[in-house]
Amino acid sequence: MKILRYLPKMQPGVFALLLAFISGASGQYYDYDSPLAIYGYSSPNCAPECNCPQSYPTAMYCDELKLKSLPMIPAGIKYLYLRNNQIDHIDEKAFENVTDLQWLILDYNLLENSKIKGRVFSKLKQLKKLHINHNNLTESVGPLPKSLQDLQLTHNKIRKLGSFDGLVNLTFVNLQHNQLKEEDVSSAFKGLKSLEYLDLSFNQISKLPSGLPASLLTLYLDNNKISSIPEEYFKRFNGLQYLRLSHNELADGGIQGNSFNISSLLELDLSYNKLKSVPTVNENLENYYLEVNEIEKFDVRSFCKILGPLSYSKIKHLRLDGNRLTQSSVPADMYDCLRMAIEIAIN
Ligand SMILES: *[C@@H]1O[C@H](CO)[C@@H](O)[C@H](O)[C@H]1NC(C)=O
Ligand SMILES: *[C@@H]1O[C@H](CO)[C@@H](O)[C@H](O)[C@H]1NC(C)=O
Ligand SMILES: *[C@@H]1O[C@H](CO)[C@@H](O)[C@H](O)[C@H]1NC(C)=O
Ligand SMILES: *[C@@H]1O[C@H](CO)[C@@H](O)[C@H](O)[C@H]1NC(C)=O
Repeated sequence: MKILRYLPKMQPGVFALLLAFISGASGQYYDYDSPLAIYGYSSPNCAPECNCPQSYPTAMYCDELKLKSLPMIPAGIKYLYLRNNQIDHIDEKAFENVTDLQWLILDYNLLENSKIKGRVFSKLKQLKKLHINHNNLTESVGPLPKSLQDLQLTHNKIRKLGSFDGLVNLTFVNLQHNQLKEEDVSSAFKGLKSLEYLDLSFNQISKLPSGLPASLLTLYLDNNKISSIPEEYFKRFNGLQYLRLSHNELADGGIQGNSFNISSLLELDLSYNKLKSVPTVNENLENYYLEVNEIEKFDVRSFCKILGPLSYSKIKHLRLDGNRLTQSSVPADMYDCLRMAIEIAIN
């Protein structure tokens, strides 16, 4: 029964968010909570085909049942799992018994926007987590309730985002593997005050979107088509810590001198681009990924504007492998600047 510690208990939102970070937020934690069905004993008013564990009676598990529509959902359910079915529609009254539902997990189904009827989600005034990963959506879903904290719509065919205006508690949004362009993204997130995590990787974005909220701590834009970074772009964020832009089309000409000199940043991934030199970063950066570019030289001033006893780079891991460098291209003063480094990979 060890498996029980993976259950949402005191603070389901926080815990699952952590788990989502660890597993890459792509539904991999499925493996942790599904074995529960084996141990569970259904409560009497559970939908007959589903499982409501006695030890955790507010959760209803209906995964992998070849369901074509939603099961009966009794009052009292707060966490509803419907993964790996063939659900292709949601009626307007589907959740009439459970307007206090908190988690709704619909990954791996066949949902299309036109078959999600009415304001079915906005009536769920306590909904915190909505996952519709791996479906057949072409737009974001909505309207959404203001209680929402975690929205995941990865692996769909989304080209259009509605406005997320007014979602004051929305903290975590994952939209990776869709078909979004920058103009689809630019106005959607305006006004969100709590958004900390935004994953837009594996889309069709060719320019950094405007209008992303200043509250972001994590921004993933890898595997897009971005070729330039305006110098002022990242200045708008108050505390950006993790930035990924690997597998884009970045070349030296598209990057201004201080584009990546962001004092809050801890991790920057620019691997798999077309850079010939090392973009300047702030002294506070700890992890810098530049592998598989076309870098021929590097200058200590990319990391340390001035060198001195109190002025050095906090870089711990620096990846420069897969470039055009050899150990002898490392300037002697580099080790003075990178005195905190644990790993500098060159070849
Ligand atoms: C609501 O609950 C009642 C009684 O348990 C049940 O008969 C009905 O099917 C439920 N409605 C939905 C939409 O699940
Ligand atoms: C998904 O939608 C497309 C049209 O947008 C359709 O051609 C396709 O059959 C759908 N796939 C499934 C599995 O329903
Ligand atoms: C947002 O979160 C706070 C703190 O958890 C909570 O008190 C508030 O009711 C939430 N707002 C909405 C609209 O759910
Ligand atoms: C980054 O910008 C700050 C000013 O915001 C400056 O003091 C620092 O020297 C710059 N870092 C590098 C490596 O140029």
